Amino acid sequence: MTKHITDCTILNNGVTMPWLGIGTYKAKGKEVQQAVETALEVGYRSIDTASVYGNEEEVGQAIASSGVARNELFVTTKLWNDDQGFDSTLRAFEASQKALGLNVIDLYLIHWPGRDQYKETWRAFERLYSEGSVRAIGVSNFQVHHLRDLIDEGGTVPAVNQVELHPGLIQQELQDFCGEQGIQLEAWSPIMKGKLNQDSTLKGLAQKYGKTPAQIILRWDIQNQIVTIPKSVTPERIRENADIFDFELTPDELRQIDALDADKRTGPHPDQLFWD
Ligand SMILES: NC(=O)c1ccc[n+]([C@@H]2O[C@H](COP(=O)([O-])OP(=O)(O)OC[C@H]3O[C@@H](n4cnc5c(N)ncnc54)[C@H](OP(=O)(O)O)[C@@H]3O)[C@@H](O)[C@H]2O)c1
Repeated sequence: MTKHITDCTILNNGVTMPWLGIGTYKAKGKEVQQAVETALEVGYRSIDTASVYGNEEEVGQAIASSGVARNELFVTTKLWNDDQGFDSTLRAFEASQKALGLNVIDLYLIHWPGRDQYKETWRAFERLYSEGSVRAIGVSNFQVHHLRDLIDEGGTVPAVNQVELHPGLIQQELQDFCGEQGIQLEAWSPIMKGKLNQDSTLKGLAQKYGKTPAQIILRWDIQNQIVTIPKSVTPERIRENADIFDFELTPDELRQIDALDADKRTGPHPDQLFWD
């Protein structure tokens, strides 16, 4: 049973990654800096950012001022779509390193697959990994067919796939495929931005355990071996989202939550987001 906020999964290259992290999408300036500072005080040790969020600098400042040892932290950032390609990836990575003020990034992700550049981009990711500038490389918003295509190249198997995943979109086929291939699945918009708070199944379980619907969902993620990164800039919610390590859902309850699947996305479908 996952019992502590610093408990980790072991990625396919042996690197450990906390099951819980803080998301930072749409949080900027002082607001994101304070949110990350609060999260680190609460005990979070994993932070998810991306170059396109425009907040890597503030995230880096919060890390620097926290006093938490660098080797206790797990920092993820992502390559934005316009920067796909070999040389442009290396340049974009350097910009992220500089903005975050970190020489080594724990996890670097291709933010969206797009149409046909991700293989070339992946070669740059493999270069960064072999140089030791990143501890693990992965992808985001990859469907099974994108993963198959990349794996068929015979290179490094992505360590992580970060996708939209919540009880309204459980992506069972992708969960199964990632499980078989040793790719750690990570949920973005895990609490569906608070939209599931009124669901009666989740409310019933929340009542049973003295928790909130958001906490029930985050616990469901972890018991399903899914890394989760709820975003909040609100101190009480940052604490609430981390208070999920003192109860255990039953197998039947996990299935009840799975049954809420409605194939409902809040973000774009990865097969429809192109920029070229
Ligand atoms: N790879 C990708 O393409 C991708 C896409 C989207 C997101 N992400 C990552 O995943 C992270 C999480 O996703 P997300 O930010 O889209 O959605 P989310 O974490 O599901 O929801 C965040 C929203 O829910 C609110 N909230 C937080 N905790 C709550 C709680 N306990 N009860 C009720 N409401 C709560 C937050 O408000 P306050 O902040 O006002 O408290 C915020 O409006 C992002 O921040 C980002 O790091 C990645």
